[in-house]
Amino acid sequence: MSNGKQNKTVFTIFGGTGDLTYRKLLPAFYNLFSLYKMPQDFEILILGRKEYTTESYIEIIKPWLKKFTRTNFRDEVFDRMSEHIQYLVINFTEEADYALIKDVYEQWGGVQQRLYYLAVAPQFFAPIAHSLKNSGILDEKDSHQVMIEKPFGVDITSAQMLHQQMCQAFNDESIYRIDHYLGKEMIQNIMSVRFNNTLFEGIWNNLQIDNIQISALETVGVENRGAYYDQTGALKDMVQNHLFQILSIVGMEKPEDASAYDIQSEQVKVLDALIPIEKGKLREHLVLGQYSSGTSSDMTVKGYLEEENINTNSTTETFVAMKVFIDTPRLAGVPIYIRTGKRCDRRSTEVAIQFKAPEGILPNLLIIKIYPDEGIYLRFNAKKPGTTPEVVPVFMDFCQSCVYENRINTPEAYERLIEAAFKKDKALFTSWAQVLSSWKFIDHLVERINEEQMILHPYPSGQSGPHLADEMLRVDGRHWIDEEHG
Ligand code: BG6
Repeated sequence: MSNGKQNKTVFTIFGGTGDLTYRKLLPAFYNLFSLYKMPQDFEILILGRKEYTTESYIEIIKPWLKKFTRTNFRDEVFDRMSEHIQYLVINFTEEADYALIKDVYEQWGGVQQRLYYLAVAPQFFAPIAHSLKNSGILDEKDSHQVMIEKPFGVDITSAQMLHQQMCQAFNDESIYRIDHYLGKEMIQNIMSVRFNNTLFEGIWNNLQIDNIQISALETVGVENRGAYYDQTGALKDMVQNHLFQILSIVGMEKPEDASAYDIQSEQVKVLDALIPIEKGKLREHLVLGQYSSGTSSDMTVKGYLEEENINTNSTTETFVAMKVFIDTPRLAGVPIYIRTGKRCDRRSTEVAIQFKAPEGILPNLLIIKIYPDEGIYLRFNAKKPGTTPEVVPVFMDFCQSCVYENRINTPEAYERLIEAAFKKDKALFTSWAQVLSSWKFIDHLVERINEEQMILHPYPSGQSGPHLADEMLRVDGRHWIDEEHG
């Protein structure tokens, strides 16, 4: 069908000399290209302020790709891909410069599918969208899609304002909001496991489930992102987006079909059903922490307050543990414990479903392992081999990432997301309704935190957060589960 000039796909990256482009976006393109998954006729237009030429830019990115591609790096593949890359010096805050972009598109000609990836700080999203519109670039009859990274606002009001501004240039259908957790293999797999196994789906309810735990612990600190992080904190950096995505997939009803609309509508129903935390009850539901100095991966590390670009008396939380309930017929009354933190004792993202059990019997446990291992762990009880009738816990441990073929066939999050965007599949992106619903809950929570002057608990780097996070579960007669300590 392609005649070379028609059906060209043009991917334009604003912020082409930033970390995200070097570490994630270009390696994702390389992987897609080497696996023959790029559209047949494509170009990548890189925009940056630095005075590079296309040739010098290609030299600069080569070592980054060598380091960060998932598939084997081959010079010959890189050279072929580089033929599709063009670097253009522009200042994206200067509307006049957009004429240069327009010239490049015109030189390519034909009907184009255009994707604009805004790998820039969020305050530039709306100005770039406006300049694209004012320069007439969006008037052309091509298909236009814009991809943006979180944060989508810092609360519901700013999110609404951003949305309104973006919608002056793009319609909502063409706005692709990235939550890279949706590109993770095992997060997508939660739906498959739930809806394709009567074994699980039949017991996925409040008659059988005792509690659910969603945990994302990191060993890294704020790294070089102090300025952003200090304004944001763990609640808005991780819970409002990534962890609520997981929560809504764990709690949702089966979508009618695999369309983005159906999946996202079911997810939104779960977010809308989150029960706001009552006045005076905050301390039973929430623990906020901040890391102090300590040992991480055998190294002595600074406390949060000593990190670069952090206010010396900052009260920003680097750890959150929270107990929430959702008011849906399926899971009403089941506590959902959420936990995330930086500078913890381990890097681990997982979902644990603990089932109810009669007195004296160890509860069944299902753990969906998202990172670093990808897999599913199931614990049940069986007879101890021998002549006594003793019952002992045993487990089945399916390690998806242990199998070489699985590992090399598992796309990285950005690879999957870029491919989905080319195909206009919005199921892997955050819908506007999801943004609204999650901010509604978080805004209410932040209001409570301020009203009740929530205390921030320090925890030494290298621990799994403040002790009070364990206490929150202990008073409920429970504990945090992970495979080793389950
Ligand atoms: C980002 C957060 O969205 O997700 C970071 O801004 C966090 O603070 C990161 O470290 C975690 O992502 P992953 O894929 O490493 O679990």
